[in-house]
Amino acid sequence: MPITPLMPVYPRCGVRPVRGEGVYLYGERGEQYLDFAAGIAVNALGHGHPHLVKAIADQAATLMHVSNLYGSPQGEALAQRIIDVSFADTVFFTNSGVEAIECAIKTARRYHYANGNPQRTKLITFKNAFHGRSLGAISATDQAKMRDGFEPLLPGFDYVRFNDLEGALAAIDDETAGFLVETVQGEGGMTAGTPEFITGLRKACDEQGLLLILDEIQCGYGRTGKMWAYEHYGIEPDIMTVAKGIGAGFPLGACLATEEAAKGMVIGTHGSTYGGNPLAMAAGQAVLDVMLEPDFLPNVERMGERLRQAFEQLIPNHDHLFEEIRGRGLMLGIKMKEPAVSRDFVAHLRDNHGLLTVAAGENVFRMLPPLVIDESHIAECVERLSEGARTFAGPSDD
Ligand SMILES: Cc1ncc(COP(=O)(O)O)c(C=O)c1O
Repeated sequence: MPITPLMPVYPRCGVRPVRGEGVYLYGERGEQYLDFAAGIAVNALGHGHPHLVKAIADQAATLMHVSNLYGSPQGEALAQRIIDVSFADTVFFTNSGVEAIECAIKTARRYHYANGNPQRTKLITFKNAFHGRSLGAISATDQAKMRDGFEPLLPGFDYVRFNDLEGALAAIDDETAGFLVETVQGEGGMTAGTPEFITGLRKACDEQGLLLILDEIQCGYGRTGKMWAYEHYGIEPDIMTVAKGIGAGFPLGACLATEEAAKGMVIGTHGSTYGGNPLAMAAGQAVLDVMLEPDFLPNVERMGERLRQAFEQLIPNHDHLFEEIRGRGLMLGIKMKEPAVSRDFVAHLRDNHGLLTVAAGENVFRMLPPLVIDESHIAECVERLSEGARTFAGPSDD
């Protein structure tokens, strides 16, 4: 068999979407899916949101790209708006999440270099973490499936169990630059950091001059019912990565930092041809226009609660399949009981019940719907899910 035109790195399923509308996707044959995957937590405004579509179309006709050789009124405006609603003093725009991670790692190293501590290069990261697929990002996770065959990887990462504060503190040494951690682990199994863990990391950073880097690429931008997941913990990071919801389908990411943490990122230390171009900035502005409407985040919180309650009622009826609910807001997962396998269940829901969800680690399946869902979508999801649970025959059924 010759290699496929698309490099065969993805186990693509039979769904071949050609159109989207709100919370629904339509395949080549016109079949409809309720999209509780949302491009893996990306399409925060659903598909074809008129305000986002118009902003992109208008900007494309006005000015799409100029490079970072020139002044950027569009970038300055979006950066300021993000700064106004976050801990940050400065923003570097990227085209993806993993580029934001690269920028965060570089910013942390340069911080200690600028402070006269160039030996502080190591980041303590966490088991089951997912930070993307660059060499830097796969070096920052212990997951063998992402690392195997790509060695030698970037040195300078220590891996500790997620939510193990004692282990994290014990891993600090003279070469430690800080912690890189998802506030809520997504791909790894939808586990929220415990308050003791997240606040404990913050405290250690304050006491020892280290940097707290939060990866909110999946859990930020309204996903948990607050603009940023760190707001649930009453702390602020020094550096944070965001992507996914920031462009709601337009490829955009950002690395946010305090003035202090970004002190080493001076002219010439970093760059990107496309990052922050006018088209991306217009998309980012349109997303914020919608997300900062007064009822947007409260609605995410309400819908998240409703969905969780519905799952809580569902679990006892299928307790041979489902173990527990994980996550926060509209970033929810259900852990399945062996021998049921979450990947098989995701395939079953998709192929037999028209419901799109995403598998995650630790035998969890994720629900990451557009943040604009209403009660009717929840009712439909729960109906399809309980039907799916009733008809699921087990591991071989997909
Ligand atoms: C927490 C987290 N970090 C980083 C990434 C990488 O982002 P991207 O795929 O846009 O490079 C992802 C993507 O799923 C993610 O969930």
